[in-house]
Amino acid sequence: MTLPADGIERILFSTETIAAKVAELGETIARDYRGKTPLVIGILNGCFPFIADLVRATQIHLEVDFMSVSSYGDGTSSSGVVRIIKDLNQVIIGRNVILVEDIIDTGLTLRYLMDNLRTRHPESVAVCTLLDKSEARKERVDVAYRGFTCPNEFVVGYGLDYAGRYRNLPYIGVLKPEIYRAP
Ligand code: IMP
Repeated sequence: MTLPADGIERILFSTETIAAKVAELGETIARDYRGKTPLVIGILNGCFPFIADLVRATQIHLEVDFMSVSSYGDGTSSSGVVRIIKDLNQVIIGRNVILVEDIIDTGLTLRYLMDNLRTRHPESVAVCTLLDKSEARKERVDVAYRGFTCPNEFVVGYGLDYAGRYRNLPYIGVLKPEIYRAP
């Protein structure tokens, strides 16, 4: 049994629950993209454990690339301002792209990324997110592959951070509000 770390109010998705869901997502993607060699694009930094597990659960030929964008500072709410910090290493003309996110909150980051990638003429772009905070959505985005619906609370672990920390928790938990609220 995994005990909550300091600062974690409760565990939302255990290591085992996440592993089962990621295996399921990988099988679905493999079925949908058989014979297509998709380009799986991870949005850094939060996606790194998820994409690592997801591609190993997706037993077809695929390629992996990464982008890094900033939409949050050290706070817990979306600024709406998106900046590309690291772009793709390759062109995506004619490729079947799968965009991998750790969490979709307002949808502002994804809206920007989808619009940006579409200008590069891929064959298709699908979104795969581990967590979907659909209650917080401000921009409509089509999510083809969704792990879990997430309550509208600030969550950390399995790649998700608060001020750069907690990414290495092997589960996803709700952060105690006193950690990010000034006293
Ligand atoms: P959006 O633009 O509001 O959809 O924000 C997406 C990004 O915000 C994600 O990729 C995360 O980096 C961050 N984010 C949103 N909600 C959370 C959360 O609950 N915990 C940690 N990061 C979050």
